[in-house]
Amino acid sequence: MHRLSHWFVVGFLLSLIPRFQAFFFQQLRLGELTPKNPSILINQTLELNCTVFPDSGLNTSLLKFYLPRHIEASSDMLTVVGDRTLLLKKTISKIEDEGQYICWSVNKTGSPVDMVNSVTLIVEYEDVRNVTDFQCILDNTSNPKEFRCNWNLGKYLHPLYLDVNIILSVDNGQNGVNCPQKKISEQCIWTEHDEPNINSMSNIVILNVTNLVFKTSKIFRKEFWTQNISKHAPPSFINASSSSSLEQCGCATITWVTIPGGVKTTSTVTLKSQWNTVPLVNPKSGSTTKRTKDVLILRRCCSSSPGWGCLVARSMFLDGKNDRRRRHTGR
Ligand SMILES: *[C@@H]1O[C@H](CO)[C@@H](O)[C@H](O)[C@H]1NC(C)=O
Ligand SMILES: *[C@@H]1O[C@H](CO)[C@@H](O)[C@H](O)[C@H]1NC(C)=O
Ligand SMILES: *[C@@H]1O[C@H](CO)[C@@H](O)[C@H](O)[C@H]1NC(C)=O
Ligand SMILES: *[C@@H]1O[C@H](CO)[C@@H](O)[C@H](O)[C@H]1NC(C)=O
Ligand SMILES: *[C@@H]1O[C@H](CO)[C@@H](O)[C@H](O)[C@H]1NC(C)=O
Ligand SMILES: *[C@@H]1O[C@H](CO)[C@@H](O)[C@H](O)[C@H]1NC(C)=O
Ligand SMILES: *[C@@H]1O[C@H](CO)[C@@H](O)[C@H](O)[C@H]1NC(C)=O
Ligand SMILES: *[C@@H]1O[C@H](CO)[C@@H](O)[C@H](O)[C@H]1NC(C)=O
Ligand SMILES: *[C@@H]1O[C@H](CO)[C@@H](O)[C@H](O)[C@H]1NC(C)=O
Repeated sequence: MHRLSHWFVVGFLLSLIPRFQAFFFQQLRLGELTPKNPSILINQTLELNCTVFPDSGLNTSLLKFYLPRHIEASSDMLTVVGDRTLLLKKTISKIEDEGQYICWSVNKTGSPVDMVNSVTLIVEYEDVRNVTDFQCILDNTSNPKEFRCNWNLGKYLHPLYLDVNIILSVDNGQNGVNCPQKKISEQCIWTEHDEPNINSMSNIVILNVTNLVFKTSKIFRKEFWTQNISKHAPPSFINASSSSSLEQCGCATITWVTIPGGVKTTSTVTLKSQWNTVPLVNPKSGSTTKRTKDVLILRRCCSSSPGWGCLVARSMFLDGKNDRRRRHTGR
């Protein structure tokens, strides 16, 4: 047993240093394990062959398999194939099945003598998952203008084995601009320097996710209309006026700009005052009309809250995350 654990350490070191491994096994190779770089998805069946060489003096009755963490393979996992091959079949059910699989030669009483070969199994949940939350936004407010895409790759045991590429096409897929960032994972940003027509009516993005170990790719293609995904500057002004002073009873008129250019937006007016801890929100639903100005008339009762605090109008962008706001203090 002492000797066995010693060999496990050697085996582990060898798996780390392929050149050393090649050197080490040149003289005393007894056989081989195939496939050499096994990879498998959870719930699939692993098959490993331990084949001894004809001049090794070994046969399948003198072989044993060890699973990760020194667990000996049970006999129901093993099949003899011909004279010199022992086949291990195991359903991979958990990530702990990842690791080193070793084939050993044993002596007649079953004690391990030499390591025949070892391989390292890589386990993954799914080779390439469907991406989720794949969204792009055209930021017309930044300088230079930006086209930004985000997506969610999902859960991987080995995210580093993924190769992610994305292409932006402004001419219906005929020409494409690769992502300007070299190594990407869940975001890419193009500016108008990368693609001068970033403002074109519609943009197509093609996302290619490849698992380098499992050698599978999935392509996700999406079309975005600029009108639907544009992010714009906040309202350029918000004014509040009242026939009486804003601290007194009566009506206040709030005016602000909406975004020109026939773009879908939502405007909200939020009222806050030192007497209102919870903001009052009055949403005006977005439209594609070319309004440049929105008006909202509000009546407030002085007895409960004697005046206006501050007024906030904001234009919401369609991703809902990056709103900008402008503030008017009604005093
Ligand atoms: C194992 O060996 C058998 C017999 O040589 C062969 O048919 C089979 O394809 C091999 N399987 C693997 C996973 O190498
Ligand atoms: C395997 O080899 C051993 C020792 O050389 C021998 O006793 C045994 O009969 C062989 N088994 C088979 C199945 O050939
Ligand atoms: C097998 O190896 C063990 C441990 O090295 C040893 O105690 C035993 O005598 C060996 N059996 C034979 C038949 O060589
Ligand atoms: C594996 O199979 C089990 C039972 O069919 C299932 O519950 C589990 O979700 C599967 N796991 C994966 C990663 O597919
Ligand atoms: C991934 O997306 C494709 C196409 O929309 C669908 O057919 C497939 O069922 C999805 N796979 C999973 C695991 O959700
Ligand atoms: C983006 O800004 C430019 C001016 O910089 C303007 O001409 C264009 O209409 C804007 N695009 C959209 C979709 O609003
Ligand atoms: C996806 O990317 C992989 C790896 O870079 C590449 O081999 C493959 O050809 C690409 N697929 C497409 C459709 O571009
Ligand atoms: C853009 O928005 C319109 C109206 O909501 C919708 O009908 C259309 O499918 C959207 N286009 C794209 C490419 O998302
Ligand atoms: C907003 O109010 C300020 C003074 O309070 C005024 O100078 C400005 O012209 C108003 N803006 C608009 C567009 O009404």
